Amino acid sequence: MVQPTGSASLLDTAVARFYDLVLDDPRLAHWFSDVDMTRLRRHQAEFLGTALDGGASRYDLRRAHAGLGIDDAAFDRVVEHLGAALAAVGIEDGHRRDIQQAAAGLRDQVVEA
Ligand code: HEM
Repeated sequence: MVQPTGSASLLDTAVARFYDLVLDDPRLAHWFSDVDMTRLRRHQAEFLGTALDGGASRYDLRRAHAGLGIDDAAFDRVVEHLGAALAAVGIEDGHRRDIQQAAAGLRDQVVEA
């Protein structure tokens, strides 16, 4: 888990960058096109929070993503963008990999196609 060490704004920047990458990616943007911004913000906060906590979430991720048809390729790209965003704000490689691994561990709950 990444300790905040007074750098909440660093994580905020990483989150913003992460979603810029996701929404700018033509292979991913369509999943979010009908999603309202309130839910999108909740998604981004929850995504990062869940990844940082090693997968603990108060959401039922399987239910949250049921019927969305998210496949392995889309999931991989989202995790890649997460890594790129964390690297861009200078999160050290070891931490970045831990976070990506925690996110990757949620695949079975999100991917259904
Ligand atoms: C570790 C991976 C992920 C986590 C922790 C996560 C978390 C969540 C949560 C908590 C919700 C419910 C939000 C709410 O009820 O307000 C949600 C919904 C959603 N997620 Fe994810 N997600 C992950 C991966 C993905 C991926 C890979 C995609 C698409 C490529 C995706 C697309 C969506 C969409 C479209 C919704 C529905 C939003 C809505 O209906 O308003 N998620 N996700």
